Amino acid sequence: MLEGTFVFWALVSGPAFQNAGAVQGMKTRLDRRLLALARSSLLVAVVTGAAWLVIVGSQMSGMPLSGVVQSGVVKIVLTQTRFGEAWLIRAALLVVLAGCLAMRHNWRHVSAWIGLLASGAFIASLAWAGHGAAAEQVPFDGLHLPADILHLLASGAWLGALLPLALMLSVVGRDGSPEEVAVARTATLRFSAIALTSVGTLLVTGIVNTWFLSGTIPALLGTLYGQLLLVKVLLFAVMISVASLNRRRFIPALTAIASDAAIRLRAVRQLRSNVSIEASIGIFVLAIVGIMGILPPGSHTEPQWPLPFQVDLGEVATRIQTALDVIAVAIVLCLAAMAFAAQTRRRRTLAASIVGLIFFSAIGLVALRPAIVRAYPTTYYASTQPYSAPSVARGAPLFSENCAVCHGAGGRGDGPMATKLPVRPADLTEPHLFAHKIGDIFWWVSNGSDNRVMPGFANKLSPDQRWDLINFVLARTAGVLTAKTSSQVSTTAAPPLPDFAFQQNGAQNTLSQTLKNGPVLLVLFATPAPRARLEQLATLGPRLTAAGLNVVAIGLATPANKAPLIADVSDDVRAALGLFRSGTDGGETELMLDRNASVRARWTASGAGGLADTTTLLADAVRVARIPVAAANHAGHAH
Ligand code: HEC
Repeated sequence: MLEGTFVFWALVSGPAFQNAGAVQGMKTRLDRRLLALARSSLLVAVVTGAAWLVIVGSQMSGMPLSGVVQSGVVKIVLTQTRFGEAWLIRAALLVVLAGCLAMRHNWRHVSAWIGLLASGAFIASLAWAGHGAAAEQVPFDGLHLPADILHLLASGAWLGALLPLALMLSVVGRDGSPEEVAVARTATLRFSAIALTSVGTLLVTGIVNTWFLSGTIPALLGTLYGQLLLVKVLLFAVMISVASLNRRRFIPALTAIASDAAIRLRAVRQLRSNVSIEASIGIFVLAIVGIMGILPPGSHTEPQWPLPFQVDLGEVATRIQTALDVIAVAIVLCLAAMAFAAQTRRRRTLAASIVGLIFFSAIGLVALRPAIVRAYPTTYYASTQPYSAPSVARGAPLFSENCAVCHGAGGRGDGPMATKLPVRPADLTEPHLFAHKIGDIFWWVSNGSDNRVMPGFANKLSPDQRWDLINFVLARTAGVLTAKTSSQVSTTAAPPLPDFAFQQNGAQNTLSQTLKNGPVLLVLFATPAPRARLEQLATLGPRLTAAGLNVVAIGLATPANKAPLIADVSDDVRAALGLFRSGTDGGETELMLDRNASVRARWTASGAGGLADTTTLLADAVRVARIPVAAANHAGHAH
């Protein structure tokens, strides 16, 4: 409100009253009210600012509120924390603002501008208390703080100046003199320009902030933070419609009928009540922002998906996906044409764009139909347990105890109970398993299958144990699929290997870390170690490294005899990697892994073509390095 009042003084009422001697009375009345508004806002800022300091002191020290004031905690917070630093700057700005408001009448003009700067700095400083100041590893992170500052400035300039505008419209005299109405009109037009700029800024910076704090549609729909954000956007849209009604209907009315005082006055009153409605909605928006400020942002909590269905584009053929992209563009174009036609009152264009919108939406829905599949509240959960060898190893015994009766020891759906069930247990080694979202699998394991034939395990296993189980099931499926991978590099979906730690040449390393340098050739062998092959690969070492290929050799049975390139691993890792080698592979299995640890090619000692020669290895390493891998999901980061 402070920023808005100073914006109004400096940029709206000041210029509007210039050279308008006949409206001195109106100016005096308005200034008195604006001054009262600014002074009470300042008082609120001082009182809540002091309370904020005491509350933060209490939170930091764990002391009750009364204790904070008596002990030296306040002093420590003020002199030794970043919050205290910002608080002191804000206090200094409040002193400047108090000075501006106390200045003598003939200095008002200067004080309005100083006050504008000080109140702008005051509201912008809030950004350092918000989420934008808490640095995180997100692309374009540098944009977050500036976007926050602009968002605050624009909201203060627009929302804060609404009440001053309503006050201005309320001081137009009862006789509705043409001079006073003309000043009100000039002021409203000036305000309107500021409001338009602010709304544009709020939109752009709001989108930037949404990306940083919510990131995805599940986070937007499935977290309280995201839902509040949607309500806020909705209210914002209502405010904009009220504002555009003002601009189109009432502002022209102020001038059009200069002859009739009664009509002029009615336009002023209507405008004033609309502005008050806008301001009241604005207060709701701010209340929502207040609640959002104390909630964790959407990308930091597990989204509870609220709908019984989801759109899974993975279920749609690539060709139809391309068609959907084209349809989406067409829909956006229709919407743009609609907005343009509505603004410029072109009825025929409007009708045509509405028909286009309905047409393209209908085709889009038909094309999208197969992508609409069943969803559960946990559909967009991210695993709390990383897909890694220790988690897979913890999951293996859990599977034998809980799942093998139905799904079979090997997961093929052939357990002892399988034939007694009305529905055959799923074969958990089919590639189809990877088509499910892990959040869906988590739901089935927790709550049972939709037909209740499979029971839920939420009461028996902790969430972490259920994730371990899922990691084991995924790793075993990946292992079964790997057995079908050929020596030709595949560029389609490939089974992923769990991450694992190893020690090679005395250095600790992990698979994921090694893959950052390029593809990995993983050599898995039974005892005894294939000495000749490992020595051959070691001699090739420099050439392979030049091609970006790293070689890691792991003996699945202990003890392994000494040979080059062999990495030391724990029993967990041996057990997990054992899933990726079958008994018919002969002495050794070689797997070429891309940056996502997906198996792109496989050679076995017993295979028809045998192991890869140097030329093949070098050429394949280059090919695998070029395969695009999906970017890590920014919203899926686990805490
Ligand atoms: C009482 C027998 C039974 C037990 C015990 C059981 N399941 Fe199932 N499971 C089933 C049946 C039957 C289905 C198929 C349900 C359907 O098609 O609707 C199924 C389906 C599944 C699916 C869905 C697969 C897909 O592709 O649709 C997964 C995943 C799964 N089970 C995992 C597990 C895990 C993990 C455990 C152990 C915690 C487990 N199941 C224990 C009977 C069982």
